[in-house]
Amino acid sequence: MIVEKLETPWNLARAAARHFVARSLEAVAIRGSFTVALSGGSTPRSLYEVLADPEEPFRELVPWPNIHFFWSDERHVPPNHPDSNYRMAYEAMLSHAPVPENNIHRIHSENPDATAAAQAYEETLKEVTKAIEPQLDLILLGLGNDGHTASIFPGSEVLHEAERLVAAPWVEQLKTYRITMTLPLINNGTSVLFLVSGIEKARIVKEVLQGPKQYPAQEVKPGGELLWMLDKDAASKLAADLHG
Ligand code: 6PG
Repeated sequence: MIVEKLETPWNLARAAARHFVARSLEAVAIRGSFTVALSGGSTPRSLYEVLADPEEPFRELVPWPNIHFFWSDERHVPPNHPDSNYRMAYEAMLSHAPVPENNIHRIHSENPDATAAAQAYEETLKEVTKAIEPQLDLILLGLGNDGHTASIFPGSEVLHEAERLVAAPWVEQLKTYRITMTLPLINNGTSVLFLVSGIEKARIVKEVLQGPKQYPAQEVKPGGELLWMLDKDAASKLAADLHG
């Protein structure tokens, strides 16, 4: 596990963009394509904007036509809903970059049957990656104040899921279903990147990285690379030894 501390949210977005570019070029050079799972919530928006911004140095480096975009999780809402993770990524990045429409694999969360949407997404993942156990090149994740990641919340039955790659847990805390990649899929990722920003996350970052095991985010232990990128505020409670 690598923990990288960046001075500001501005630096955080650009460090994450460099990682995205590096992993995408590497995968395309080896396999001709790059598979990435985008996270939702508010933190990754600036990364997505920076990647697609023509004023920034990243847009011209990204192999957009060779990238297959997936989502680590989605809210149980239609794609045009303000809470949609797909909508956020589309508005911040995908609508501003030369991405083939067929390479955008959103979760069909408008399906009233969340479990059916999850099953369909698992099939899509297997089809596109041509693998029974897809190994995505990069999986982006965030961290909630309760230690959840993707839509794997504390106390959720999904924490114990060993078979399915995508699940549709009922999230009592939010009184809604969510559709989420499960730990077997996440932990099979080649590179897993947590992006965490803001002073309000400092306590949970400390507990997840340096505290006893009790949070879903601590179950993310990929066979490949595990990277935590934190801004200074989010890292502010970490003990020196993890303070990059
Ligand atoms: C979601 C996310 C979720 C998110 C965390 C952090 O759909 O909400 O995937 O896991 O990453 O809740 O959210 P913020 O970045 O908004 O703090």
